[in-house]
Amino acid sequence: MPVITNIEDLKRIYERRVPRMFYDYCESGSWTEQTFRDNSSDFDDIRLRQRVAVDMTGRTTSSKMIGQDVTMPVALAPVGLTGMQCADGEIKAARAARDFGVPFTLSTMSINSIEDVAEATKAPFWFQLYTMRDQDYVSRLIQRAKDANCSALVITLDLQILGQRHKDLKNGLSAPPKLTLKTMANLATKWAWGIEMLSAKRRNFGNIVGHVEGISDASSLGSWTAEQFDHALDWNKIAKLKEQWGGKVILKGILDADDARMAAKVGADAIVVSNHGGRQLDGALSSIRMLPEILDAVGDQVEVHLDSGIRSGQDVLKALAMGAKGTYIGRAFIYGLGAMGQKGVTTALEVIQKELDTTMALCGETAVTDLNRKNLLVPQGFSGVWEA
Ligand code: GLV
Repeated sequence: MPVITNIEDLKRIYERRVPRMFYDYCESGSWTEQTFRDNSSDFDDIRLRQRVAVDMTGRTTSSKMIGQDVTMPVALAPVGLTGMQCADGEIKAARAARDFGVPFTLSTMSINSIEDVAEATKAPFWFQLYTMRDQDYVSRLIQRAKDANCSALVITLDLQILGQRHKDLKNGLSAPPKLTLKTMANLATKWAWGIEMLSAKRRNFGNIVGHVEGISDASSLGSWTAEQFDHALDWNKIAKLKEQWGGKVILKGILDADDARMAAKVGADAIVVSNHGGRQLDGALSSIRMLPEILDAVGDQVEVHLDSGIRSGQDVLKALAMGAKGTYIGRAFIYGLGAMGQKGVTTALEVIQKELDTTMALCGETAVTDLNRKNLLVPQGFSGVWEA
């Protein structure tokens, strides 16, 4: 087994092990992928301020996200089809997160169901909700998440309609994969993945199949979103969902200061500055570039988190020092999961924590909660000067 020293190492193993269709699903942005690329490369534009001769003993990466203790403020983001990256993927990722002490967020579009994950982990996790036209189904989903003791509802706001990812269409993405000559040729080279998948608890969308009638193709993310997602979602509906849930609510997919103000107004416990990993509005600015403006608008009213583009502990540190109280990794943990199952997710978390801790020490800080703008060298005009 190669020595794993960074997230890129996990990605290389992941690429070899997992069927191309699911690798491409994870590794794509929409259309030209400009926003997908910017999400990561914009982190590189921020530099760190090195400090020396500061007592670096007794360091800690612990903090809180929405009042919950975390070993480090890095949650696992909701990722659709996680159980296709690795058999029982959601269960394995949730167990790794539980053992590490960070939140796990289960996607509505997961393979393992809410009940599967609750039963396998016996620990609270966060549930990510997509809003659907079928109100009864949404109410049942919310009730299922309550019954499973989920400790936050993460409502995604930036995917009422799917941004086009060329490769998913060309690959005929589905769960489970449809057997065509192309997919069979590829699956034949992924035997370790396939053998594990034979004994997986599920191979289709566990929160949907068996819970809703009349879907034209229950294996396709594309047809589900096109037929079912509620195009009429608005702030009134969000307020109602919040009321229906009655617990902590995180609004995910905010990339604009005006939207952030609306989210604060409906009383969200946290917002996630996110462009869905560059998978939705291609051409939008990166999350890290939008973060300062959103913090200026609502940072004193609501907890601000960030996702999209984080691939290292340095990226986490930059987001925290900029003012975010929490971050999320999606692809970075999927690489670990696809490469080595539960152990790979733990490895991804360990890599990120070690990078965060060492970087913090070299910046002359001993607690992530003390990080601030003084630790960063942000180039002038980083957030851009755009025509009104
Ligand atoms: C769904 O959340 C996706 O981005 O594919």
